[in-house]
Amino acid sequence: MIAGVPRSRPPSAEIRLRVATASDRSQVLAWNSAPDVRARSLDPRPIDPMDHVRWFAARLADPLTRMWVIEVQRRAVGLVRIERSAPAAPGRISIVVEASARRGGLGRGAIRAACRVDGGPIVAEIRSDNLASVACFENAAFEDAGAAFDLDLGPPAPGVRRFVWRSTHV
Ligand SMILES: CC(C)(COP(=O)(O)OP(=O)(O)OC[C@H]1O[C@@H](n2cnc3c(N)ncnc32)[C@H](O)[C@@H]1OP(=O)(O)O)[C@@H](O)C(=O)NCCC(=O)NCCS
Repeated sequence: MIAGVPRSRPPSAEIRLRVATASDRSQVLAWNSAPDVRARSLDPRPIDPMDHVRWFAARLADPLTRMWVIEVQRRAVGLVRIERSAPAAPGRISIVVEASARRGGLGRGAIRAACRVDGGPIVAEIRSDNLASVACFENAAFEDAGAAFDLDLGPPAPGVRRFVWRSTHV
């Protein structure tokens, strides 16, 4: 825990993952367009709204993508997504929690819940300077991918760390 940062950790039972629908598109754009989220993304460029319309529709239509809105007491506070390039490929996970809801255990809880539903293996690629995300995924039982040659992914991009979750992880 960071000294001086207020904490209000809800019980994980309060976290609900709801399958995302087309009506979530604007909210997802708002979450992902926040300057601090762009700065932590692998592609930090601003999101073009029309590109987002196409991207979101494609994700919803893709049978290899699963997207859930993270809800707490019926309030939508973020999005977690797992997608694959092929059915047997490892899933790739991405998450955003709105700033006002952070540091309460929601990120970790949502990641754990999504991984359990998916079954894995699941890969997270995180900018090395995104310390909050690295810590969050490590706390959600992701491990440094290191020599995970079985994943057959090649080396991560410079400045990017790769983590993996497997169903054998707690
Ligand atoms: C990364 C993110 C999803 C974490 O969500 P969160 O709800 O704040 O995470 P949690 O409260 O579950 O934190 C779990 C652990 O992560 C670590 N952590 C989270 N935020 C942290 C921060 N700002 N600094 C240091 N550690 C942090 C802590 O170890 C924390 O455990 P603790 O509270 O017991 O100390 C959120 O910060 C976010 O949406 N960031 C912007 C988008 C982003 O970076 N997404 C990931 C791209 S790969």
